[in-house]
Amino acid sequence: RASSSESRGALIVLEGLDRSGKTSQSSRLLSYLEGLGHSTELWRFPDRSTSVGQMISAYLSNKSHLDDRTIHLLFSANRWEKRVTVEVSLYKNFDYQKFQDSNELFSRSDGFTQISLMETQLKNGITLIIDRYSYSGVAFSSAKGLDIEWCKAPEVGLLAPDIVLYLDIPPEKAAERGGYGGERYEQLEFQRKVAKCYQAQCDSSWKVIDACQPIEDIEKQLQDAVLDHVTDVCQPIEDIDKQ
Ligand code: TMP
Repeated sequence: RASSSESRGALIVLEGLDRSGKTSQSSRLLSYLEGLGHSTELWRFPDRSTSVGQMISAYLSNKSHLDDRTIHLLFSANRWEKRVTVEVSLYKNFDYQKFQDSNELFSRSDGFTQISLMETQLKNGITLIIDRYSYSGVAFSSAKGLDIEWCKAPEVGLLAPDIVLYLDIPPEKAAERGGYGGERYEQLEFQRKVAKCYQAQCDSSWKVIDACQPIEDIEKQLQDAVLDHVTDVCQPIEDIDKQ
């Protein structure tokens, strides 16, 4: 991947068990970064708005039943469709000239142009906060007993985050929080396994935050954690690779 010395947006990922507070903390972080004047967007996976996302949503609400590997690959595809898109019609005002020499655009033999959507946003200086990413994919599927290396394979080549913020909560405490919403994975016994599978992926690059603290304390710690990562981000955007 070509490196660029120009400053870019940061790729910030929030991870954690169901009911760990990721979604409300993501919104708070968005307001904070916007308040500091950073162009920031909040994305989440699964992105239920796409057709793949709708299949995932039907599965999660027990309206459809899929094999474990099939749903794993759909979750991954749902990330890939935001990594690379061919829906150029959405980008009528897209400045093609600006990106001509960079590697975000690929001409395809069928005449369409492929845009590396996520990369383009980052290179345009937009910071992305992402509520769940590949680590959820690997944690939830390997918690079902699928081989962890098999689970990681389709994630290779997605963009690697600049920082992973893990909201750490004991599964029992998460279960007490206003009850689960009835989706497929919202069961204490399963969430215990997911917690172990998150631990298996956690390395020194993750920032682990105690999600049992008061909301404002968590918010402040997340702000402190991202501050260094959003100012003058110059390191090249990396891909997730085999570990
Ligand atoms: P959500 O509640 O954050 O929308 O996530 C829906 C569920 O999907 C949640 O239980 C975690 C699970 N999940 C996976 O199993 N694999 C994935 O790749 C992602 C992003 C989420």
